This record gives sequence, structure tokens and C-alpha cells, in this order.
Amino acid sequence: MFCNHRANIHNIFRMKINIIKRLSSSILFFVLLCYSCENNVSEPISDCSDLEVYYNNSVEPIMVQYCTICHSGGAPSGSLNLDSYSSFRANISEVIYVVNLEANSSSIMPPYGEKLSDSVLSKLQAFYDMEKLGCE
Ligand code: HEC
Repeated sequence: MFCNHRANIHNIFRMKINIIKRLSSSILFFVLLCYSCENNVSEPISDCSDLEVYYNNSVEPIMVQYCTICHSGGAPSGSLNLDSYSSFRANISEVIYVVNLEANSSSIMPPYGEKLSDSVLSKLQAFYDMEKLGCE
């Protein structure tokens, strides 16, 4: 009777240990999963073929129309090249900043004192958002 009782307690104890073991390994699994997700976010994204297609179709024409007359070649205005996918992508934060300045700001781009249209701005913004979200 007493021995059985002890055996039961012992079994329950072992079951608990097993549960704890299983729990801790799944917790460890989730921690590792989250860690690798976070790493993916902070790493530079290498495969963004969709983003590049979007650039070619929607962004490059805007750059050619409004920006590359000054921002291309060997001595670009502000030492800033905006004539390729990689140079545009590398400078997207500054681009978003200057095109969204007030129309009367002395730093607005293009520097004619007039903002780009909302539809053009939203195309640039879309690139920026995709970049930030990992190029989906
Ligand atoms: C008529 C020429 C001209 C056009 C067109 C032009 N820019 Fe500029 N941009 C300049 C000049 C000049 C500067 C440098 C201003 C300064 O340093 O004060 C500059 C600076 C910038 C900067 C800041 C660079 C830095 O860090 O100093 C950004 C970003 C920029 N331009 C983006 C654009 C974008 C985007 C467009 C198109 C929507 C554009 N520019 C169109 C002449 C131009």
C-alpha cells in the first residue's frame, strides 16, 4: 500500500519532469524560431526580384522624368546617383524624405518648389514600404 503510493508519486513526478522537458524544448524551439526571424529582418535582403521588377516598371520612369537629369553620371548633384536600382535602393530613405517636404521648403526635390503628384509619391512610397517589409 505504502510502496504503491510512493510508486504513484514517483510516476507522477516523472510525468511532470517529462512535461517540463517537452515544454522547455518547445519553448527553446520558439525562441530559436523568433531569433532566426528577427535575424532575417535585420539582414540585408539579397533576393528581392519582385522589388527590382517593381523598380523597373514603376520607379525608373519617375527617376528618368524627374531626377536623373541632375542625379546621374560622374558628378551628380549632391553627389547622389539615382540612375540604377542599387543606387536608388541605397538612398530610398533620403529620397522619401526630400520628395515629401513642403512645397516651399528649400530642400524639396525636384528643386522647382512644387511637389510631385500624389500618384507619383505613392509609387515611391510603395517601393519604400516593400523594402522595409522585406521585398514581398
Ligand atoms: C535640377 C536638378 C535636380 C533635380 C531635377 C533633382 N535634384 Fe535632387 N539635388 C539637386 C541638388 C543640386 C542637390 C544638392 C542640394 C544641396 O546639397 O543643397 C540635390 C540633393 C538631393 C538629395 C539630398 C542628397 C544629400 O544627401 O545631400 C536627395 C535625396 C535628392 N536630391 C533627391 C532627388 C530626387 C528623388 C529627385 C527627383 C524627384 C531629385 N533629387 C531631382 C538637384 C536636383
